[in-house]
Amino acid sequence: MPSFDCSGIGGAVADCDNVALFWGIGVAHIIVVGNEKGGAGKSTVSMHVATALARLGHRVGALDLDLRQTTMGRYIENRRAFLARRGMDLPTPAYRDLPAVDKASLHQGENIYDVRLTQALEEMQDTQDFILIDCPGSHTRLSQMAHSVADTLITPLNDSFVDFDLLARIDPEDGRIMGPSVYSEMVWGARQRRAQAGLDPIDWIVVRNRLGTQQMVNKKKMGKALETLSKRIGFRVAPGFSERVVFRELFPKGLTLLDLRDVGLSQMKLSNIAARQELRDLISALSLPDVKANF
Ligand SMILES: Nc1ncnc2c1ncn2[C@@H]1O[C@H](COP(=O)(O)OP(=O)(O)OP(=O)(O)O)[C@@H](O)[C@H]1O
Ligand SMILES: [Mg+2]
Repeated sequence: MPSFDCSGIGGAVADCDNVALFWGIGVAHIIVVGNEKGGAGKSTVSMHVATALARLGHRVGALDLDLRQTTMGRYIENRRAFLARRGMDLPTPAYRDLPAVDKASLHQGENIYDVRLTQALEEMQDTQDFILIDCPGSHTRLSQMAHSVADTLITPLNDSFVDFDLLARIDPEDGRIMGPSVYSEMVWGARQRRAQAGLDPIDWIVVRNRLGTQQMVNKKKMGKALETLSKRIGFRVAPGFSERVVFRELFPKGLTLLDLRDVGLSQMKLSNIAARQELRDLISALSLPDVKANF
């Protein structure tokens, strides 16, 4: 397995020593959902994208790198339990925990988290079309490594300048972008590592989440700031999700917007139909290989 040294790339990745590369081993397209800001909607987006792809007939594996909260893992567990109770079968991502690794088995200089993630990915690479990785809302070794293996990176972002601050610093007087911030620097480090290894660049997509029907001034300002920043640091902005109560209600049963009809909700509320359209627009905007958002 090839590896490389990322010393000297910059402060944001200085702790990333000798990250192992395992691209090219299998065929799976890796989608990482990340943002160091907590509560941005990573697990909600992860579950919806992974389930949408499974429902479109793709083989989807899922990993949760938030080893403490494991929201994505619990979401899929809830889904399996709900479907079992109902005696139903709906397309469901294949979730797996990171494998446990005995510290005594590590070679000198090997990092246990790198080995755990590598093993999980190797096991899924040849059996899945997509591997979706949900990251924690903080800067961890696992998250940093996951960003380096991303073919597609989705960053949900709450429509607030508090969240924007993790992407870039802006001038409080005129809104000018003054420079990249911690999370963008981390993604930049991941991009550098891939470039050094001769790999395809990450397709980075920022998704605005919890968009309100009011606060139009803030919404416009955020839109403008994101558009400017997207050109500076190289990401695309995808259509996002509005603030909707339904997203908070689906978790206990492990359901997504796409399952509502199957579980007996014949009369879809207008807001659910609109939310479903938002998801369709997002899946289209991701431009994933061989995916047509015809649900
Ligand atoms: N579009 C939305 N409308 C309403 N509520 C939402 C929406 N998206 C997410 N939420 C709610 O916001 C909260 C945070 O969402 P989520 O857990 O997906 O974020 P996260 O980025 O994974 O958080 P963490 O950083 O803690 O892992 C949850 O209560 C979720 O139900
Ligand atoms: Mg989460």
